[in-house]
Amino acid sequence: MKKFLLIIVSVMMLITAVGCGQTKTDTKKTVNPVKRDQKIVGVLMPHRESPRWIKDGNNLRYEFEKRGYKVDLQSSDNDVERQRSQLKYMIDNGADAIIITPIDSGALSDVLVGAKEKNIPVIAYDRLVMNSDAVSFYVSFDNKAVGRLFGEYIENTFALNSGAGFCNAEIFSGSASDSNAEVIYEGLLEVLQPYIDNGQIRIPSGQIAFEETATYLWRKEEAQKRMTNLLNSVYGNGTRLDAVICSSDVIANGIVNVLNNSSLRPIITGQDGDLYSIQYIVAGKQAMTVFKDSRLLADKCAHVVESIFNGTLPEVTDNMTYNNGEMIVPSYLCEPILITKDNIKEHLLDTGYYAPEEVGLSE
Ligand code: BGC
Repeated sequence: MKKFLLIIVSVMMLITAVGCGQTKTDTKKTVNPVKRDQKIVGVLMPHRESPRWIKDGNNLRYEFEKRGYKVDLQSSDNDVERQRSQLKYMIDNGADAIIITPIDSGALSDVLVGAKEKNIPVIAYDRLVMNSDAVSFYVSFDNKAVGRLFGEYIENTFALNSGAGFCNAEIFSGSASDSNAEVIYEGLLEVLQPYIDNGQIRIPSGQIAFEETATYLWRKEEAQKRMTNLLNSVYGNGTRLDAVICSSDVIANGIVNVLNNSSLRPIITGQDGDLYSIQYIVAGKQAMTVFKDSRLLADKCAHVVESIFNGTLPEVTDNMTYNNGEMIVPSYLCEPILITKDNIKEHLLDTGYYAPEEVGLSE
Protein backbone atom coordinates (compact mmCIF):
# COMPACT_ATOMS: atom_id res chain seq x y z
CA MET A 1 0.00 0.00 0.00
CA LYS A 2 2.87 2.36 0.88
CA LYS A 3 4.52 1.74 -2.43
CA PHE A 4 1.24 2.31 -4.25
CA LEU A 5 0.68 5.59 -2.43
CA LEU A 6 4.15 6.85 -3.15
CA ILE A 7 3.81 6.12 -6.83
CA ILE A 8 0.55 8.02 -6.97
CA VAL A 9 2.07 10.88 -5.00
CA SER A 10 4.99 11.04 -7.41
CA VAL A 11 2.85 10.88 -10.51
CA MET A 12 0.31 13.43 -9.45
CA MET A 13 2.90 15.93 -8.20
CA LEU A 14 0.37 17.66 -6.06
CA ILE A 15 2.13 20.96 -5.75
CA THR A 16 -0.01 23.11 -3.56
CA ALA A 17 0.48 26.48 -1.94
CA VAL A 18 3.32 26.48 0.55
CA GLY A 19 2.50 27.27 4.15
CA CYS A 20 0.57 25.76 6.98
CA GLY A 21 -2.65 26.95 8.49
CA GLN A 22 -2.74 27.99 12.11
CA THR A 23 -3.80 25.31 14.57
CA LYS A 24 -4.96 25.56 18.12
CA THR A 25 -2.70 22.89 19.58
CA ASP A 26 -1.75 23.46 23.18
CA THR A 27 1.45 21.72 24.17
CA LYS A 28 0.45 21.62 27.82
CA LYS A 29 -2.79 19.74 27.23
CA THR A 30 -2.84 15.97 27.36
CA VAL A 31 -5.37 13.84 25.60
CA ASN A 32 -6.83 10.56 26.76
CA PRO A 33 -6.02 8.07 24.08
CA VAL A 34 -9.14 6.86 22.28
CA LYS A 35 -9.44 3.09 22.34
CA ARG A 36 -9.98 2.02 18.79
CA ASP A 37 -7.89 -0.36 16.76
CA GLN A 38 -4.88 1.42 18.19
CA LYS A 39 -1.91 1.92 15.95
CA ILE A 40 1.50 2.65 17.42
CA VAL A 41 3.46 5.65 16.20
CA GLY A 42 7.16 5.71 17.09
CA VAL A 43 8.64 9.20 17.46
CA LEU A 44 12.41 9.65 17.56
CA MET A 45 13.68 13.11 18.48
CA PRO A 46 17.42 13.85 18.21
CA HIS A 47 18.20 15.35 21.61
CA ARG A 48 17.03 17.49 24.52
CA GLU A 49 19.86 20.03 24.42
CA SER A 50 17.57 22.64 22.91
CA PRO A 51 14.00 23.30 24.00
CA ARG A 52 12.72 22.96 20.45
CA TRP A 53 13.01 19.18 20.28
CA ILE A 54 11.27 18.80 23.62
CA LYS A 55 8.42 20.96 22.33
CA ASP A 56 8.34 19.06 19.02
CA GLY A 57 8.17 15.71 20.84
CA ASN A 58 5.35 16.90 23.09
CA ASN A 59 3.42 18.41 20.21
CA LEU A 60 3.76 15.24 18.15
CA ARG A 61 2.57 13.17 21.09
CA TYR A 62 -0.42 15.49 21.49
CA GLU A 63 -1.36 15.40 17.80
CA PHE A 64 -1.13 11.61 17.51
CA GLU A 65 -2.87 10.85 20.79
CA LYS A 66 -5.63 13.26 19.81
CA ARG A 67 -6.20 11.13 16.73
CA GLY A 68 -6.34 7.95 18.81
CA TYR A 69 -2.86 6.54 18.25
CA LYS A 70 -0.49 5.20 20.86
CA VAL A 71 2.81 7.08 20.89
CA ASP A 72 6.26 5.74 21.71
CA LEU A 73 8.30 8.96 22.12
CA GLN A 74 12.08 8.63 22.50
CA SER A 75 14.98 11.08 22.50
CA SER A 76 18.31 9.86 21.22
CA ASP A 77 20.37 12.43 23.18
CA ASN A 78 22.60 13.18 20.20
CA ASP A 79 23.95 9.65 20.21
CA VAL A 80 23.81 8.17 16.71
CA GLU A 81 24.17 4.57 17.91
CA ARG A 82 21.35 5.03 20.40
CA GLN A 83 19.12 6.44 17.68
CA ARG A 84 19.92 3.49 15.44
CA SER A 85 18.98 0.99 18.18
CA GLN A 86 15.82 2.88 19.12
CA LEU A 87 14.81 2.83 15.46
CA LYS A 88 15.56 -0.87 15.17
CA TYR A 89 13.57 -1.57 18.32
CA MET A 90 10.54 0.28 16.92
CA ILE A 91 10.76 -1.57 13.61
CA ASP A 92 11.05 -4.94 15.37
CA ASN A 93 8.37 -4.27 17.96
CA GLY A 94 5.27 -3.37 16.04
CA ALA A 95 5.45 0.33 15.21
CA ASP A 96 2.85 1.11 12.54
CA ALA A 97 4.59 4.36 11.52
CA ILE A 98 7.86 5.99 12.51
CA ILE A 99 8.59 9.72 12.73
CA ILE A 100 12.28 10.43 12.87
CA THR A 101 14.55 13.46 13.09
CA PRO A 102 17.97 11.99 12.37
CA ILE A 103 21.06 13.07 14.30
CA ASP A 104 23.21 12.05 11.36
CA SER A 105 21.10 12.28 8.22
CA GLY A 106 23.03 9.52 6.44
CA ALA A 107 23.51 7.02 9.27
CA LEU A 108 20.21 5.16 9.21
CA SER A 109 20.15 3.51 5.77
CA ASP A 110 20.89 -0.09 6.83
CA VAL A 111 18.45 -0.01 9.74
CA LEU A 112 15.70 1.43 7.54
CA VAL A 113 15.86 -1.57 5.24
CA GLY A 114 13.85 -3.38 7.95
CA ALA A 115 11.15 -0.68 7.87
CA LYS A 116 10.82 -1.03 4.13
CA GLU A 117 10.54 -4.82 4.36
CA LYS A 118 7.69 -4.44 6.86
CA ASN A 119 6.02 -1.61 4.90
CA ILE A 120 6.24 0.74 7.88
CA PRO A 121 5.78 4.35 6.74
CA VAL A 122 8.78 6.45 7.77
CA ILE A 123 8.36 10.21 7.99
CA ALA A 124 11.48 12.38 8.05
CA TYR A 125 10.58 15.14 10.48
CA ASP A 126 12.29 18.52 10.06
CA ARG A 127 15.57 16.90 8.91
CA LEU A 128 15.71 14.81 5.76
CA VAL A 129 16.82 11.18 6.05
CA MET A 130 19.52 10.65 3.42
CA ASN A 131 20.57 7.60 1.38
CA SER A 132 17.49 5.49 1.93
CA ASP A 133 14.55 4.48 -0.25
CA ALA A 134 12.48 3.69 2.84
CA VAL A 135 11.39 7.29 3.44
CA SER A 136 7.69 7.82 2.75
CA PHE A 137 7.49 11.54 3.31
CA TYR A 138 9.37 14.63 4.51
CA VAL A 139 7.66 17.30 6.63
CA SER A 140 9.73 20.35 7.41
CA PHE A 141 10.15 24.07 7.08
CA ASP A 142 11.76 25.59 4.03
CA ASN A 143 15.38 25.60 5.18
CA LYS A 144 16.63 27.56 2.20
CA ALA A 145 14.14 30.26 3.15
CA VAL A 146 15.58 30.21 6.69
CA GLY A 147 19.02 31.00 5.25
CA ARG A 148 17.58 33.68 2.99
CA LEU A 149 15.87 35.31 5.97
CA PHE A 150 19.27 35.59 7.71
CA GLY A 151 20.78 37.04 4.54
CA GLU A 152 17.99 39.53 3.95
CA TYR A 153 18.14 40.64 7.56
CA ILE A 154 21.85 41.43 7.19
CA GLU A 155 21.25 43.06 3.80
CA ASN A 156 18.57 45.36 5.25
CA THR A 157 20.27 46.11 8.56
CA PHE A 158 23.48 47.25 6.88
CA ALA A 159 21.75 48.84 3.85
CA LEU A 160 23.87 46.69 1.58
CA ASN A 161 21.68 47.02 -1.48
CA SER A 162 22.13 50.79 -1.47
CA GLY A 163 25.72 50.02 -2.41
CA ALA A 164 26.99 52.09 0.51
CA GLY A 165 26.65 49.70 3.45
CA PHE A 166 29.46 47.65 4.88
CA CYS A 167 29.63 44.80 7.36
CA ASN A 168 32.29 42.65 9.01
CA ALA A 169 30.64 39.29 9.71
CA GLU A 170 31.32 35.76 10.89
CA ILE A 171 29.16 32.77 9.98
CA PHE A 172 28.29 29.99 12.42
CA SER A 173 26.48 27.23 10.53
CA GLY A 174 24.84 24.08 11.90
CA SER A 175 26.21 20.56 11.99
CA ALA A 176 27.64 18.99 8.84
CA SER A 177 25.89 15.75 9.88
CA ASP A 178 22.49 17.43 9.44
CA SER A 179 21.46 18.01 5.84
CA ASN A 180 19.47 21.10 6.90
CA ALA A 181 22.65 22.92 7.88
CA GLU A 182 24.11 23.18 4.38
CA VAL A 183 20.75 24.09 2.85
CA ILE A 184 20.47 27.00 5.29
CA TYR A 185 24.02 28.05 4.41
CA GLU A 186 23.14 27.95 0.69
CA GLY A 187 20.09 30.16 1.28
CA LEU A 188 22.25 32.61 3.22
CA LEU A 189 24.88 32.82 0.50
CA GLU A 190 22.24 33.15 -2.18
CA VAL A 191 21.60 36.61 -0.69
CA LEU A 192 25.03 37.55 0.63
CA GLN A 193 27.49 36.17 -1.94
CA PRO A 194 27.30 39.28 -4.22
CA TYR A 195 28.19 41.47 -1.23
CA ILE A 196 31.05 39.18 -0.26
CA ASP A 197 32.28 39.33 -3.84
CA ASN A 198 32.15 43.13 -4.05
CA GLY A 199 33.70 43.63 -0.62
CA GLN A 200 30.68 45.13 1.16
CA ILE A 201 30.77 42.10 3.44
CA ARG A 202 34.10 41.03 4.84
CA ILE A 203 34.67 37.80 6.78
CA PRO A 204 37.77 38.76 8.78
CA SER A 205 38.49 35.15 9.86
CA GLY A 206 38.54 34.05 6.23
CA GLN A 207 36.40 31.07 7.35
CA ILE A 208 33.70 31.03 4.75
CA ALA A 209 33.41 27.53 3.23
CA PHE A 210 30.50 25.61 4.78
CA GLU A 211 32.83 23.12 6.51
CA GLU A 212 34.81 25.95 8.10
CA THR A 213 31.66 27.52 9.50
CA ALA A 214 29.96 24.28 10.64
CA THR A 215 29.25 23.66 14.34
CA TYR A 216 29.55 20.02 15.39
CA LEU A 217 26.12 18.70 16.44
CA TRP A 218 24.92 22.31 16.61
CA ARG A 219 26.47 22.46 20.08
CA LYS A 220 26.75 25.66 22.06
CA GLU A 221 30.12 24.59 23.50
CA GLU A 222 31.54 24.10 19.99
CA ALA A 223 30.35 27.56 18.93
CA GLN A 224 31.80 29.08 22.09
CA LYS A 225 35.15 27.42 21.45
CA ARG A 226 35.35 28.73 17.89
CA MET A 227 34.23 32.25 18.86
CA THR A 228 36.79 32.35 21.67
CA ASN A 229 39.51 31.35 19.21
CA LEU A 230 38.38 34.06 16.80
CA LEU A 231 38.45 36.67 19.55
CA ASN A 232 42.05 35.76 20.29
CA SER A 233 43.29 35.28 16.76
CA VAL A 234 41.32 37.82 14.68
CA TYR A 235 39.58 40.37 16.85
CA GLY A 236 42.29 41.03 19.45
CA ASN A 237 43.63 44.04 17.53
CA GLY A 238 40.48 46.15 17.44
CA THR A 239 39.02 44.70 14.21
CA ARG A 240 35.31 45.51 14.02
CA LEU A 241 32.72 42.74 14.20
CA ASP A 242 29.29 43.88 13.02
CA ALA A 243 27.37 40.61 12.70
CA VAL A 244 27.54 37.00 13.81
CA ILE A 245 25.22 34.98 11.61
CA CYS A 246 24.24 32.00 13.75
CA SER A 247 22.10 29.21 12.34
CA SER A 248 20.34 28.42 15.62
CA ASP A 249 19.39 29.96 18.92
CA VAL A 250 21.57 27.48 20.82
CA ILE A 251 24.59 28.66 18.79
CA ALA A 252 23.53 32.31 19.22
CA ASN A 253 23.33 31.72 22.94
CA GLY A 254 26.92 30.49 22.99
CA ILE A 255 28.06 33.55 21.03
CA VAL A 256 26.25 35.93 23.39
CA ASN A 257 27.98 34.21 26.33
CA VAL A 258 31.44 34.63 24.82
CA LEU A 259 30.92 38.20 23.63
CA ASN A 260 29.54 39.27 27.01
CA ASN A 261 33.14 39.17 28.21
CA SER A 262 34.40 41.33 25.35
CA SER A 263 33.69 44.83 24.10
CA LEU A 264 32.26 43.57 20.79
CA ARG A 265 28.50 44.02 20.31
CA PRO A 266 27.65 42.67 16.84
CA ILE A 267 24.11 41.88 15.80
CA ILE A 268 23.40 38.18 16.28
CA THR A 269 20.94 36.02 14.36
CA GLY A 270 19.34 32.74 15.45
CA GLN A 271 16.74 30.14 14.61
CA ASP A 272 13.93 28.37 16.50
CA GLY A 273 12.39 31.00 18.76
CA ASP A 274 13.71 29.32 21.91
CA LEU A 275 12.49 31.10 25.03
CA TYR A 276 15.89 32.42 26.16
CA SER A 277 16.51 33.85 22.68
CA ILE A 278 13.20 35.65 22.72
CA GLN A 279 14.19 37.05 26.11
CA TYR A 280 17.53 38.08 24.56
CA ILE A 281 15.72 39.78 21.67
CA VAL A 282 13.57 41.70 24.13
CA ALA A 283 16.73 42.66 26.05
CA GLY A 284 18.59 43.64 22.84
CA LYS A 285 21.27 40.93 23.10
CA GLN A 286 20.10 39.01 20.01
CA ALA A 287 18.69 40.77 16.95
CA MET A 288 16.36 38.20 15.44
CA THR A 289 15.39 34.57 15.26
CA VAL A 290 13.62 32.48 12.65
CA PHE A 291 10.56 30.88 14.17
CA LYS A 292 9.33 27.49 13.01
CA ASP A 293 6.11 26.73 14.83
CA SER A 294 6.33 23.13 15.98
CA ARG A 295 2.57 23.08 16.60
CA LEU A 296 2.06 23.41 12.85
CA LEU A 297 4.69 20.86 11.95
CA ALA A 298 3.35 18.28 14.38
CA ASP A 299 -0.18 18.78 13.09
CA LYS A 300 1.02 18.43 9.50
CA CYS A 301 2.98 15.31 10.33
CA ALA A 302 -0.03 13.68 11.98
CA HIS A 303 -2.16 14.54 8.92
CA VAL A 304 0.38 12.86 6.66
CA VAL A 305 0.47 9.68 8.73
CA GLU A 306 -3.30 9.58 9.01
CA SER A 307 -3.61 9.93 5.21
CA ILE A 308 -1.18 7.09 4.69
CA PHE A 309 -3.04 4.88 7.18
CA ASN A 310 -6.34 5.70 5.46
CA GLY A 311 -4.93 5.03 2.01
CA THR A 312 -5.44 8.62 0.84
CA LEU A 313 -2.89 11.02 -0.60
CA PRO A 314 -1.03 13.30 1.78
CA GLU A 315 -0.82 16.88 0.55
CA VAL A 316 2.53 17.60 -1.11
CA THR A 317 4.12 21.03 -1.60
CA ASP A 318 7.32 19.83 -3.24
CA ASN A 319 7.94 16.72 -5.25
CA MET A 320 11.19 17.70 -6.93
CA THR A 321 13.69 19.22 -4.55
CA TYR A 322 14.37 16.69 -1.83
CA ASN A 323 16.52 14.06 -3.43
CA ASN A 324 18.03 12.05 -0.59
CA GLY A 325 20.50 10.22 -2.79
CA GLU A 326 18.17 7.24 -3.29
CA MET A 327 14.85 8.84 -4.13
CA ILE A 328 12.99 12.10 -4.41
CA VAL A 329 11.09 12.34 -1.17
CA PRO A 330 7.59 13.87 -1.43
CA SER A 331 7.59 16.81 0.95
CA TYR A 332 5.40 19.25 2.77
CA LEU A 333 7.22 22.45 3.68
CA CYS A 334 5.97 25.17 5.98
CA GLU A 335 7.09 28.80 5.85
CA PRO A 336 9.47 30.02 8.55
CA ILE A 337 8.83 33.44 10.11
CA LEU A 338 11.36 36.17 10.85
CA ILE A 339 10.97 37.36 14.44
CA THR A 340 12.29 40.65 15.77
CA LYS A 341 11.28 42.65 18.80
CA ASP A 342 8.50 44.21 16.68
CA ASN A 343 6.48 41.08 15.97
CA ILE A 344 7.04 38.89 19.05
CA LYS A 345 3.58 39.81 20.25
CA GLU A 346 1.86 38.93 16.98
CA HIS A 347 3.51 35.56 16.39
CA LEU A 348 4.50 34.27 19.81
CA LEU A 349 2.24 35.87 22.39
CA ASP A 350 -1.08 36.29 20.58
CA THR A 351 -0.87 32.69 19.35
CA GLY A 352 -0.21 31.39 22.87
CA TYR A 353 3.28 30.06 22.14
CA TYR A 354 4.67 32.01 25.11
CA ALA A 355 3.07 34.03 27.88
CA PRO A 356 4.01 37.75 27.98
CA GLU A 357 5.58 37.43 31.43
CA GLU A 358 7.79 34.53 30.24
CA VAL A 359 9.44 36.66 27.59
CA GLY A 360 9.65 39.81 29.68
CA LEU A 361 6.86 41.64 27.86
CA SER A 362 4.02 42.03 30.34
CA GLU A 363 1.02 43.61 28.68
C1 BGC B 1 16.69 22.26 12.91
C2 BGC B 1 16.86 23.53 13.72
C3 BGC B 1 17.61 23.22 15.00
C4 BGC B 1 18.87 22.46 14.72
C5 BGC B 1 19.63 22.06 15.98
C6 BGC B 1 18.03 21.63 12.71
O1 BGC B 1 17.90 20.48 11.94
O2 BGC B 1 16.07 22.55 11.68
O3 BGC B 1 15.60 24.06 13.98
O4 BGC B 1 17.95 24.42 15.65
O5 BGC B 1 18.59 21.31 13.97
O6 BGC B 1 18.93 21.21 16.80
